[in-house]
Amino acid sequence: MRSGGGGAVSGSSGTVAPGAGHDRPAGLGSRNENLTGRAAERLMSTYPVPKAEFVRGKGTALFDVDGNPHLDFLCGLGVTNLGHGHAAVTAAVAEQAATLVHTSNLFVTEPAVALAERLARILGWDDARVFFAQDGATANEAAIKVARRHGKAQHPDKVRMVALEGSFHGRTLATLEATGQPAKHEPFAPLAGYVDHVPYDDPDALRAAVTDQTCAVLLEVVQGEGGVRPVSDEVLVAAREACDAHRALLIVDEVQTGIGRTGPWFAFQDTPVVPDVITVAKALANGLPIGACIAHGPAATAFQPGDHGTTFGGNPVTCAAANAVIDAIESDGILAAARTRSRRLVEGLEALVDDAPFARGVRGRGLLLGLELDAPVAAEVESACRERFLIVNAVAPDVVRLAPPLTVTRQEIDLALAALAESLSAVAEAH
Ligand SMILES: Cc1ncc(COP(=O)(O)O)c(C=O)c1O
Repeated sequence: MRSGGGGAVSGSSGTVAPGAGHDRPAGLGSRNENLTGRAAERLMSTYPVPKAEFVRGKGTALFDVDGNPHLDFLCGLGVTNLGHGHAAVTAAVAEQAATLVHTSNLFVTEPAVALAERLARILGWDDARVFFAQDGATANEAAIKVARRHGKAQHPDKVRMVALEGSFHGRTLATLEATGQPAKHEPFAPLAGYVDHVPYDDPDALRAAVTDQTCAVLLEVVQGEGGVRPVSDEVLVAAREACDAHRALLIVDEVQTGIGRTGPWFAFQDTPVVPDVITVAKALANGLPIGACIAHGPAATAFQPGDHGTTFGGNPVTCAAANAVIDAIESDGILAAARTRSRRLVEGLEALVDDAPFARGVRGRGLLLGLELDAPVAAEVESACRERFLIVNAVAPDVVRLAPPLTVTRQEIDLALAALAESLSAVAEAH
């Protein structure tokens, strides 16, 4: 039997050993057996062929069709920060779904306004205003349009943006262009050519790139998809100062870092800078699709009626879920607990750097961590972990990303570290 680390994962019925197979209930699964084949035939192939199929989740555990629990240290790409099947979020969704699902933004509903008020409060921005979108890309689209509106009010040519190399901001055309990864641009070139990219670690280059034609600098505090690379305070301060000097907006993309992922509610709150605009998505509703663009100061009132909109923005069900997420994080002291868990995980990863093959370093913040490898074997390590019922991902050829739920237990961290150590050894043996 494949090793699952020999311990326990928090599941719906207490603790269960990762990978401890349960028989599939009779009659269930025959249709699912060929699910990856059906997916390959009918879904556009934007992602690689899926490696596993999950039917249920509880806490840190994802259960496959055979009933095996897998330790989810990826959280659906940084989304399920409260774990799977969080009771309060589930209840909020069920209640709101039974009450009112959709009205459009021609009308106002309590969950959206209450969520905007909560977001303003946790940011400490008295004059904040929120635009609700569906996901990270559409939250960033809104932020880019806010910046253009704000810039063009000063001068018609003030529409350029500065972003960082290695960044990721989404896949729509505007956010793709902001994304500092040329390989992702190529299949869709030519793009509009309105973004200047500078190295992610060069404050002088950033200062030099910002001009009077710049309407915004857009950056992440930790580049998630770019390989879990923290951006230095020097770069952040250079961005803030350059924006102030040229009356441009500083937009911080908190799509992956927000909602406690790196420690505070938002990653910028642990840095010396305060942005004009942030975007958040992924973990905001713990798995329901939502995005938000939040601005304060002059940027908050840049949009006028008719400038922007979206049918589903501020949907009552997704907003009810997000309200439950924020309430649960506050009432259960989850941010403080997650910082403690982060320390344990970092210490464990540092021990691997001392002892395990390939492990070279640890980077990231909070529970958005990258294990640096001294060879481009991250994909092999990811597969070896998968065989040991641990879900992590190769975010760069030589970096494995770990992003467990903020609610992860000490025991689950130890199990994951054991599975990761075994996986590194297995990959080393195979080389
Ligand atoms: C920092 C950042 N911005 C934007 C996005 C795009 O978000 P979405 O996939 O929800 O459109 C991502 C997705 O990984 C992200 O990590």
